[in-house]
Amino acid sequence: MRRELMEAEPSGKRWRGQVRSQLYDTAWRMHHVLRPTRPFKHGAKRALRLDLSELTLSFADLPAAFDRYRILHLTDLHLDNIDDTAAETAARISGLKSDLCVITGDIRDNIHAPLHPLIERLERVVSSVHAPDGVLSVLGNHDGAAMVAPMEKIGIHVLLNETLTLTRDTDDLHITGLDDVHRFHTEEAYAALDAAPEGFCIALVHSPEVAGRAAEKHRLYLTGHTHGGQICLPGQRSFTSGLKRHRDLGKGIWRHGRMVGYTSRGIGACIVPFRSFCPGEVTMVTLRRGADHVSVDGQPADI
Ligand SMILES: [Fe+2]
Repeated sequence: MRRELMEAEPSGKRWRGQVRSQLYDTAWRMHHVLRPTRPFKHGAKRALRLDLSELTLSFADLPAAFDRYRILHLTDLHLDNIDDTAAETAARISGLKSDLCVITGDIRDNIHAPLHPLIERLERVVSSVHAPDGVLSVLGNHDGAAMVAPMEKIGIHVLLNETLTLTRDTDDLHITGLDDVHRFHTEEAYAALDAAPEGFCIALVHSPEVAGRAAEKHRLYLTGHTHGGQICLPGQRSFTSGLKRHRDLGKGIWRHGRMVGYTSRGIGACIVPFRSFCPGEVTMVTLRRGADHVSVDGQPADI
């Protein structure tokens, strides 16, 4: 499998990949030394504060049978970083009723983490999801191809550069899920976007980096990857976008052509188990059929 071959290669330029790998390993060693200390525990607990963002998105061309369809969007869980992430996420979503749950990648943090405990944590999260149409997921740049089979075993449908069609009455809702396009970008991702059928299409992609191509056929794009900056200055001002392309789409609600997108701040923390001025979030998206309109937490969004 091409993804497995790519995972074995250093990311980016060879020297840059080696430096990044060294930094990553050092951060993980420090992480385990500091884990029992009080400041570390305090910071990790604060990082697990999860907001609920509520989006109401109206589209004139939404198929009638999907009016009021609710999608619970989870992303960037990094479940093996802060121990209580799965428990806190499960508690946050357990009372939320949706039709479908989607996960846009980075379920894992440490690329060397053993799979079994990770999948156990993921199962704890998905067992708290109330969504009759199930759970769909794509992979992020921290995830590995070896995760796909165990994820499918616990009932998650993983989309790797393919489109799934949900049907209600005689109406269809198409959902295209891509493999990661940040580190593991291939032409197959573009081909999957281009192959989406006519009709109302939603793209699930780990990062916003292919928004331009997706906008040609998709009406909604749900994504994450950036963590909203994770460690920010007051006002959620971030130091870096974490994106190679479409750096202006790094957080919140946006529009690209006819397509509306949402870049979630995500749930967990990447490498460093802290968040600053940038709380994590889970997102509930309600689709409405009507004149094109967007509201976030009850307020109209001017995008
Ligand atoms: Fe992430």
